[in-house]
Amino acid sequence: MTTRLLFVCLGNICRSPSAENIMNYLLEQQGLHSKISCDSAGTSSYHIGSSPDSRMAAAAKKRGINLVGSARQFTVSDFEAFDVILAMDDSNYRNILSLDPSGQYAHKVKLMCEFCQKYPDRDVPDPYYGGADGFDYVIDLLMDACGGLLQELGEE
Ligand code: 4NP
Repeated sequence: MTTRLLFVCLGNICRSPSAENIMNYLLEQQGLHSKISCDSAGTSSYHIGSSPDSRMAAAAKKRGINLVGSARQFTVSDFEAFDVILAMDDSNYRNILSLDPSGQYAHKVKLMCEFCQKYPDRDVPDPYYGGADGFDYVIDLLMDACGGLLQELGEE
């Protein structure tokens, strides 16, 4: 059975499309595309239909990863459609859980940085209003977290 992953941030143009495309890159490398599928969404409606941010795409490209996709907003139907929902930061996490008042899907929602193996961060920092370094950092952090997540899924 395929495990369905959904990566979620605020705008779905920086962090979550990076996580989705990095994970697809790792799945391709490891021949696991048929076992795990990925998508991403934003909690906000700000950028619906937009391509990934060009600064984020440039940072990903430096690591050999092409960012593809079009932003969409997280919806309550995603709770059923996905097995694991990965919030990029604590604010995303709380916004997702607020859409599940009964808490029946809370077990599916995790903080992305729980899976980091090298970095001590709790959140994937929002790079949107910062400089180029912030975008590079997001890619490095997500490479670490995606690797850890893949390892954990492989052990289940
Ligand atoms: P993301 O970054 O949540 O990683 O896609 C952001 C994108 C847009 C905004 C904030 C964060 N914004 O305020 O428009």
